[in-house]
Amino acid sequence: MQAVSVNISLLKSLLSLATVIEAKDPYTGGHTWRVSRYARLLAESLGLSEDEVFIVHFGSLLHDIGKVSVPEPILNKQDKLTSVEYEIIKKHPETGLPLVREHPLGALALDIVASHHERFDGGGYPKGLAGNDIRLFARIVAIVDAFDAMTSARPYRAGMQAQTAYQLMAQESGRQFDPVLLSAFLDLGKRGELDQILGHSSEERLMQGCPECGPIIVIPVHWQSGDKVICPKCLSNYNVHPDGDKFEVEWDQTVNFTWIPEPDTDTISEVAQYAPKELGLQSDFLEFSVFDRKSYDASKVLSLRSRVNSL
Ligand SMILES: [Fe+2]
Repeated sequence: MQAVSVNISLLKSLLSLATVIEAKDPYTGGHTWRVSRYARLLAESLGLSEDEVFIVHFGSLLHDIGKVSVPEPILNKQDKLTSVEYEIIKKHPETGLPLVREHPLGALALDIVASHHERFDGGGYPKGLAGNDIRLFARIVAIVDAFDAMTSARPYRAGMQAQTAYQLMAQESGRQFDPVLLSAFLDLGKRGELDQILGHSSEERLMQGCPECGPIIVIPVHWQSGDKVICPKCLSNYNVHPDGDKFEVEWDQTVNFTWIPEPDTDTISEVAQYAPKELGLQSDFLEFSVFDRKSYDASKVLSLRSRVNSL
């Protein structure tokens, strides 16, 4: 067992990078936050240890860090992607690897960054890994990432209802998704435990579209009356008014052309708050690479445990 101390400053700086990258893609507003919260819930329901749940929570915030390599016109395209554009997007798991591989904490997220688009039946990318050859943490994120993609609006389509997504995902049991993990996720959905995240862009904040141009305006948890928010696409400044558990946004007639994305400090603080001082890891965890996997079989152990817990 190898102890890895969790340096909070290092953790925050890496998550700052990840959340700023998300802001490049205004239509996904809150995607990373939702994926990390769904992943945490699923990891907890599987009976994973506190350290493992933390790694899933932290790593899922970094899962799309490789999208820094995707040109914004492709990320923000209003129409369906061409096959060439899709191929460019599909490179993001691999381009994310060098961004996290050498970082002492980023290495914890290696599996998730590299393998969250693998399919259980081997038909995913980038490696076409199948079954338990895809590490457990990545199999968890594959499920919650797909669920959020289905239930969130994109420039070219509206998000679907959660019940429809559950039905479609159930058809992919053993195909796109690990059947045991999927069944635990669908149970969470049935029990309504995902509702606190679904349709939200941050804790307690329902998703709010820009009235002018459509993408999500994330309203921070710490937002207070009088604060302004900005549309990441059209750069309009909005005054926000509470309206029950929702908000109304009203354009203040100004546009901020000098705006640059800021880190999502609420989400970063949330992860930091759960961070253990020290993680106990299998001795080869940090040396492990999905591109050179030989010996590490913790995924099998963890997968077995989840199967036992689900009985
Ligand atoms: Fe991704």
